Amino acid sequence: MGDIDDFRQAVESFIAQRGWTATRFGRTIAGDPLFVFDLREGREPRSDTRQRILKAMQDEGEAKAPPPLRIGVAGLGNVGATLVGILARDGEELTRKLGRRLEVVAVSARSRTRDRGVDVSGYAWFDDPVALARSPDIDLFVELMGGEDGPAFASVRAALELGRPVVTANKALLARHGVALAKLAEESGAQLGFEAAVAGGIPVIKTLREGLGSARIARVYGIMNGTCNYILTRMSGGIQADGPPVSFAEALKEAQQLGYAEADPAFDVEGFDTAHKLAILASLSFGCEIAPDQIFVEGITRIAPADIKVAADLGYAIKLLGIAQRSAEGIEQRVHPVLVPKTSAIAGVDGVLNAVVLETDHVHALMLSGPGAGGAPTASSVLSDILDIARGTRVPALGVPSGELVPYRPAPMKAHAGGYYIRLNVKDVAGALAAIATRMGERGISLESVIQRPDLRVKDDGGDGVQTRTVVLITQETMEATVRETLNQVAGDGFIVGMPQVIRIEAL
Ligand SMILES: NC(=O)c1ccc[n+]([C@@H]2O[C@H](COP(=O)([O-])OP(=O)(O)OC[C@H]3O[C@@H](n4cnc5c(N)ncnc54)[C@H](OP(=O)(O)O)[C@@H]3O)[C@@H](O)[C@H]2O)c1
Repeated sequence: MGDIDDFRQAVESFIAQRGWTATRFGRTIAGDPLFVFDLREGREPRSDTRQRILKAMQDEGEAKAPPPLRIGVAGLGNVGATLVGILARDGEELTRKLGRRLEVVAVSARSRTRDRGVDVSGYAWFDDPVALARSPDIDLFVELMGGEDGPAFASVRAALELGRPVVTANKALLARHGVALAKLAEESGAQLGFEAAVAGGIPVIKTLREGLGSARIARVYGIMNGTCNYILTRMSGGIQADGPPVSFAEALKEAQQLGYAEADPAFDVEGFDTAHKLAILASLSFGCEIAPDQIFVEGITRIAPADIKVAADLGYAIKLLGIAQRSAEGIEQRVHPVLVPKTSAIAGVDGVLNAVVLETDHVHALMLSGPGAGGAPTASSVLSDILDIARGTRVPALGVPSGELVPYRPAPMKAHAGGYYIRLNVKDVAGALAAIATRMGERGISLESVIQRPDLRVKDDGGDGVQTRTVVLITQETMEATVRETLNQVAGDGFIVGMPQVIRIEAL
């Protein structure tokens, strides 16, 4: 590209970045209102004119450019190091988009010497993240250490107390202290961004807080844990086209080998990680306080390949969903495996992907799906919060001022109504199945189907050598309390062995 082309491009992008007209440029910078029109028509200004105009553009830029946003990043792990790398690599482009420079000036982590794949030698180092949060040399504090208390809570609180904006990806922190932190942010006039805390790279917080800010949400549900979704997908024979379905233990081992599951996977597979995210989504959806301890939580560890097979034969997939919905009693918040129709959009969300469905009262359902974790997708959500703060966007952290949040009114799980998948190990004695069906009938439970197949044997450890047959019952809509009471009676009658497997069917 020749000098004149470079010059033309510099003039055009200067105009575009500022949203100026060509005439304004001509008057303010070039001293001739028609200058840009002449340039566009191919007239080439002399070299000394170009130099004069380039200098004027530079002076104007320096005079008007807002000061850089100085960022302190605490936590240089998967997400933090990726964020620092992106800001170093894409800094110029981001500056052009924002008209303001984003500058990492200080960082904190535990080990100063660890190789993180990014060069942090040019940034001030803080051993103490609280000291970094309070440093007068930063304008924005980014918390990427994790943990619901400890240094994460202390440093975020310290920054907000000073009126300093904070961005965090920490769902545990938000689930536990979100309301207090939102209140603190309001009192000190600081912004608190946490887009990355729920479903990693999916912009669900912004969608709820801003895009659907005026809509009344009726139900929000989603696949919010990639580890569980990977395991369930593999158990159903998905992902590896020619691979056979595998057991829970095999799928978990595979997920660990691929880095999708922690060495200690309990927090994920028992459903608690999903519960943290659901608590945050429920608050944003229903304008209520965050209530992570009021969630009914059941993980996926008891799902057997036979459950997946029967479900598939009946036209369902099994997914671990977090679901929050309004009901007559209050708000239901539950995390458990669910039979979802294979025809539903969420049934097609496989592997480590996440998806969140937002349903409004006007029967408008919106599904957002994408990568729920990983350094780059998560850092990109962190970055989107940083950009909002750099632009000066102001929104209450939880969508409404914290004083307007209503206390969380839990709808008891026993009042939940829906269809049920019930798998029983029934003793192989005459009349057993008839007795079970009678118990169900007495409690008003209508059975949609009863499935008994020789290939469905699930070994149960309570067997004592008793011969059993695996039987699956599908109920029509029934109350949770009725199902539980009836199954207690069935167990008391002595016709089944071991614990019944109960999976809820969700109407989607
Ligand atoms: N990874 C994901 O895919 C993902 C997705 C969504 C949300 N998140 C959230 O993002 C946050 C960070 O996750 P991550 O995966 O990046 O974690 P990580 O890889 O374990 O990194 C944690 C970082 O925090 C630093 N750190 C821990 N304690 C510290 C302390 N007392 N003082 C200073 N630094 C400390 C560690 O320092 P050293 O490196 O020196 O040990 C490390 O750099 C968490 O809240 C997580 O829930 C992560």
